[in-house]
Amino acid sequence: MNSQVRGIFPGASGQVYLDVSARSLMPEPVSAAVDRHIHTRMHYGGDKDELRAEVERARHAFAGLINSSVNEIAITKNVSEGLNLFAASLPWEAGDNVLVCPELEHPNNIYLWFNLARSRGIEVRTIPADEGRIPVAAMGNALDERTRVVTMPSISFAPGFLTDVKSLALAAKQVGALTLVDAAQSIGAIDTNVRDLGIDALAVATQKCLLSLYGFGFLYVRREVAESLVPIHVARYGIDLGEAHETAFAEDELKYQPGALRFDLGNYNYLGATAAATALDLLAGWGMKNVEAHVCGLASELATGLLELGLPVAGGSPGSHLAHIVSVGESGGGRHYSADDPAMNSLYDHFVAAGIKLSIRSGVLRLSIGVYNQSSDIEHVIAAARTWIETKGSGASSHLLGREDRGRR
Ligand SMILES: Cc1ncc(COP(=O)(O)O)c(C=O)c1O
Repeated sequence: MNSQVRGIFPGASGQVYLDVSARSLMPEPVSAAVDRHIHTRMHYGGDKDELRAEVERARHAFAGLINSSVNEIAITKNVSEGLNLFAASLPWEAGDNVLVCPELEHPNNIYLWFNLARSRGIEVRTIPADEGRIPVAAMGNALDERTRVVTMPSISFAPGFLTDVKSLALAAKQVGALTLVDAAQSIGAIDTNVRDLGIDALAVATQKCLLSLYGFGFLYVRREVAESLVPIHVARYGIDLGEAHETAFAEDELKYQPGALRFDLGNYNYLGATAAATALDLLAGWGMKNVEAHVCGLASELATGLLELGLPVAGGSPGSHLAHIVSVGESGGGRHYSADDPAMNSLYDHFVAAGIKLSIRSGVLRLSIGVYNQSSDIEHVIAAARTWIETKGSGASSHLLGREDRGRR
């Protein structure tokens, strides 16, 4: 990514923004598209056909982004809406089970399963994490003929490791189970091909690596799977009335839209659609492979630099687990927004004072890299970490890795 890319993100200068995993900085073209939308609404009211066209533009772009068909994309407002629409529409029978690793899931991919346990009598099989990684082998072993769904994050919100989605999807397929991926943290950072991964469903929202707004997202459902489902919620845009007006419905003639379109409900977040369609044009222009190489390359530089200082980088040396998120500290050593380790809180404060925007999640300091970051940002973080170590002296050193560990990790 060159300086022209960075140049359209005014928020990328004047601070070191390493928080795309919470939400991205917004690029100028997206902001301009949002302004145009508001201006039109304010002065002219807006035109429904044009608004609907923006939604279809976004839907096409989403499909292109993940290599699906357009009718495999339902429009949603966030990740959890997509996860819930899919999960609650499955023909559960009491005693069916779902496999999930709650330690590494965002709460929004945990609650729904316990709700289905309550409402439909399903069994939630919880599998412990494997040192911050989704336990692919253990989940594979826990599969049986009553497993209906295996769910996983493509990248966990913390510590942010990549999941071997393809292997898990393959194992699930062997017992006829479906795979549902929470892709909140990966789409827009990691080049994704749902056909190649062999997954059945995936949910994402647009405020993180998709560089646009809250309140807009999509649910991918493989066409054959979608067409076997009775959607839990229905409204006008999910019902197929052919050329007839939506008021032309006759009782008992409920026909769903093809594929995942049946999960669309009523009016959309049209502003969110305009913003997302604009951001997706940018991503397509840069090329997802280039974006992925850029953000993962910087993550590798950052992880290496922090390890060389002796800091406890989750996962150790860059390897197949590393995407665009670098976490420091003990994964799981804290609540959702906190770290138990006082040294990590002190390092967090030091980073903030040095103009670095980051998050604390589940015990770790999470530094997440966006398309607008560059090597100077990484150097700034490493320099700040070095100063912290020097100024905190022995207080910090007890939290550093032992010399012999450094080589191994
Ligand atoms: C992995 C993951 N899933 C889900 C969410 C959020 O879900 P929702 O968009 O439903 O609020 C986040 C973060 O916001 C996340 O990191």
